[in-house]
Amino acid sequence: MNKEEAAKKITELSSLIAYHNHKYYVENTSEISDYDFDQLLKQLEDLESKFPDLVSETSPTKRVGGDITKKFQTVVHEYPMLSLSNTYSQDEIVDWENRVKKQVDGKLNYVCELKYDGVAIGIRYENGSFVQAVTRGDGSKGEDVSSNVKTIRTVPLQLKGDFPERFEIRGEIFFPLKAFHELNEQREEIGEEPFANPRNTASGTLKLQDSSIVATRGLDCFLYGVYGDDLPADGHYQSVLNAGDWGFKIPTPQNRYLERTDSIEGIMDFINYWDENRADLPFEIDGVVIKVDDYGQQQDLGFTAKSPRWAIAYKFKTERVSAKLQEVTYQVGRTGAITPVANLSPVALGGTVVKRASLHNADQIEKLDLYENDTVYVEKGGEIIPKIVGVDEELREGSAEKIKFIDRCPECDTELKRIEGEAQHYCPNDAGCPPQITGRIIHFISRKAMDIDGIGSETVEQLYQRGLIKNIADLYDLKHADVAALERMGEKSAQNLLDGLEASKKIPFERVLFALGVRYVGETVAKKIAKAKKNIDAIMNATYDELISIDEVGEKIAIAVQEYFMNEDNVEVVNRLKEAGLSFEIEEQALKGEQLKDKSIVVSGVFEKVSRKELKQLIEDHGGKNVGSISSKTSFIVAGDNMGPSKLEKAKKLDIEIVNEQQFLEMIGHD
Ligand code: IVH
Repeated sequence: MNKEEAAKKITELSSLIAYHNHKYYVENTSEISDYDFDQLLKQLEDLESKFPDLVSETSPTKRVGGDITKKFQTVVHEYPMLSLSNTYSQDEIVDWENRVKKQVDGKLNYVCELKYDGVAIGIRYENGSFVQAVTRGDGSKGEDVSSNVKTIRTVPLQLKGDFPERFEIRGEIFFPLKAFHELNEQREEIGEEPFANPRNTASGTLKLQDSSIVATRGLDCFLYGVYGDDLPADGHYQSVLNAGDWGFKIPTPQNRYLERTDSIEGIMDFINYWDENRADLPFEIDGVVIKVDDYGQQQDLGFTAKSPRWAIAYKFKTERVSAKLQEVTYQVGRTGAITPVANLSPVALGGTVVKRASLHNADQIEKLDLYENDTVYVEKGGEIIPKIVGVDEELREGSAEKIKFIDRCPECDTELKRIEGEAQHYCPNDAGCPPQITGRIIHFISRKAMDIDGIGSETVEQLYQRGLIKNIADLYDLKHADVAALERMGEKSAQNLLDGLEASKKIPFERVLFALGVRYVGETVAKKIAKAKKNIDAIMNATYDELISIDEVGEKIAIAVQEYFMNEDNVEVVNRLKEAGLSFEIEEQALKGEQLKDKSIVVSGVFEKVSRKELKQLIEDHGGKNVGSISSKTSFIVAGDNMGPSKLEKAKKLDIEIVNEQQFLEMIGHD
């Protein structure tokens, strides 16, 4: 294929992918299978890697992220990003509407919208292409977070239809509740503390330096304003609908996320509807926003110093109830982390009966200044478990004692530890503390790990209670009779369990590695380590430097991996699992050549004939090892255009050979 043909094909594929992307993420329908979609994307990736100078900044391949932003650039907003005046009182909404009526001529229409609880963003488009996305910052200047925003599938990179040549669209980036809960589940799986709420997590995610992590998080975006010199609409409502035609995800009248009305009754109806129904939304809102529709009337009303007079936010009161603190109990997680839990007198809140609230850690108890039998205020936010937001000190009993965080493990009585700088207390007795032992086994058998059929957490507890298992390796020594003798088991279920264990021997190495439950080693990191090091022995013997040179492995993970294998009990468990027949090496396709055997190679810069990713793959395919940073052990550097000056200097200092793309390709006989 020549360059001209490639350019045509790239354009075709890009718009086809954008079309299916919009169907799937914005319209929630789909015309092709996931497989076919992936094939289209792969075709585009292949073409782009063959013709790198045809890659556009708005190509659908940019969705997966990968750009690292060390420091976000500050950008001055063309239109200041103001805030909204807000109220909790419906009477004040009536007053606002009366003021508006007095100040403008003509018939008034109001647009009612949801007030999304996320982070404001302004995205500029020129000639239909995404140009730049900037956070609100202080209102007059914000930060350029373009590479992160590009990973959000509902933000179009190329527009369709009849869009203005130059405009800015404003909206709110938020964490859908499902994605938020999934993220927290994943964090708990690797022993990390869950994030507190969707709003702060959306904001933190948007400021991550590595856009490929942002791409995995599932952020979403709704739009609430179009700004430009000549917009093809006279009012806000039509502008939002137009944006839908250009490919944006917009709130629509169909689900009542957007409504136009000409009366205060209509406004109140919208407010009351969402006050009652907001718990059913798949994302969080903290109120609704009422805007005057007509742009001319908006201009007549103008602005105060901080906010437009043509809009007002009605904020919902968060439902808050009081409950009596009965007891603080402490849970011990699989990694030994201690979580205090407040046990409360049962109260109704947000449609459920609440009996427990998380207290997170010792600092939280201290901050609340909690005493025995206190009357506490409880609220429900994005978290599944409600939280205590305050204490009614007036109702405190005179004789009550301050709640003191425990200093010994409630399960095994070992003295607790707290690592400096960390909020959580830990029980260090990982080998002997029952919930840590069963927690590790439950993690091992779980769906994303070994996915063992016929065994659940209750069976694990029973097997442990009866002294039949103390670690994950013991599972593979279980006898049919032992299992069949368990409560609610029987012959058939016992056989099912043993078959499940047998089948797990075929689970690939990267999942076995994840299942071991090494702290901070989640599914993705396990895959990366398994791929880089190939087998368990290489991981056990890997130096700290070797570990951190693996993609996505940082200091904390490298230390955790080394600590895990320094523990002889863990090494013994791994050896027994090896004997039981589990996979401890990656199943590899045959090498294409051995020209790079035993070579540690650093790749730097951009290349003409192959992409960086392809080049790294070629290194692996020919027996070489990709390393991230230059050291005296580096065999040579493959340098493309724009090799970083610091790398160049280091290479010269250590006298390391530098080869160019052509020389490298000749080395492996690649044409
Ligand atoms: S309009 C000049 N509409 O609320 C008015 N804002 O205090 C511009 N927000 O920072 C904002 N949902 O992040 C508008 N439907 C909505 C909104 C909304 C959420 C946020 C926005 C802004 C804050 C205003």
